[in-house]
Amino acid sequence: MSVTGEVGTRADRVRAVTRAHEQRRGALIPVLHAVQHEFGRIAAEDLPVIADVLNLAIAEVHGVVTFYRDFRRAPAGRAIVRICGAEACQAVGATTLAGHARDRLGIGFGETTADGTVTLDEVFCLGNCALGPSVEVAGRVYGRVGPDRFDGLLGDLR
Ligand code: FES
Repeated sequence: MSVTGEVGTRADRVRAVTRAHEQRRGALIPVLHAVQHEFGRIAAEDLPVIADVLNLAIAEVHGVVTFYRDFRRAPAGRAIVRICGAEACQAVGATTLAGHARDRLGIGFGETTADGTVTLDEVFCLGNCALGPSVEVAGRVYGRVGPDRFDGLLGDLR
């Protein structure tokens, strides 16, 4: 559910989301996750608002947003596909699967296909370690995903 109730300008809404988390210890990271959850990405125009509420330098907020791959600055595709790259999944073929995914989609991690259908991301553990390689497609986790199954999941999106 929206923290802000979808009322007001984007800046007003970002301010409200930031204020909802500002008392947390190390508030910046939770705030950035919350803003991304709310808006799908963290836009350049959001940085001064977040910095103002948290009493940080804009450069500091920018540095964190650009350092962590989790934070998206460009709009995401209609579906986000995340491939687990953590150890248990790597041991059963996640690296090969990731290469296949990049080839199949023609994009790298953190990028979106030109038609706006899919954003490809890497994630470190989806809580499905015994059934790797694990992939999350549009919020749903799938296990034992090899290249063929991956292609099938993509086909369902298009
Ligand atoms: S290591 Fe891939 S789901 Fe946990």
